[in-house]
Amino acid sequence: MAETINQWAVFTIVLSGLALMAGVFLIRGGNREAHMKAMLLASGLATVFLVLYLTRLGLGYEKKYIGPNRGAYLALLISHIILAAANLPLALLALWNAWKGLKAAGNLRNIDLPAARGYFNRHRAWVRWTVPVWLYVAVTGWIIYLLLGRYGEVIKA
Ligand code: HEM
Repeated sequence: MAETINQWAVFTIVLSGLALMAGVFLIRGGNREAHMKAMLLASGLATVFLVLYLTRLGLGYEKKYIGPNRGAYLALLISHIILAAANLPLALLALWNAWKGLKAAGNLRNIDLPAARGYFNRHRAWVRWTVPVWLYVAVTGWIIYLLLGRYGEVIKA
């Protein structure tokens, strides 16, 4: 049961990373509407991940790494955990500014209206941190999952 929840959690966070990358490409191509949808999907999937992950923790399922280079594994794990925690406020700030900007603009064609511009400038400033951090967390999460599949020992099931 916990193992299945774990697999779904990893699946949703990988999909969330893919939706995030799609959102970045879409805004680079100037497609604001599709960018918004991709980013809302990425955020929704990340929320599902969080619920699954917390459920798994609640069930007390844990794996210990027993492979080579334990120091390197722990460094990867710790950087992953710290940045995953930082990702939540970063994503919320990006979403909050986009939402306030959209409300001030009325629609996505008017983002240069003075009332909206400040929010979208802040959106752009925050996402410079949000996007790399989110991608790092998604990629390292996948690596940790693969490493634990190969070298993990279940210590609580
Ligand atoms: C956490 C979710 C989001 C992330 C990570 C994100 C990321 C990005 C990125 C990387 C850019 C390009 C910044 C640049 O060119 O310097 C951008 C721009 C933009 N985003 Fe988002 N975005 C998110 C959510 C949204 C949402 C929900 C909306 C719609 C309400 C939105 C509307 C826009 C608009 C209109 C721009 C263009 C701003 C401009 O040209 O000044 N974004 N976003």
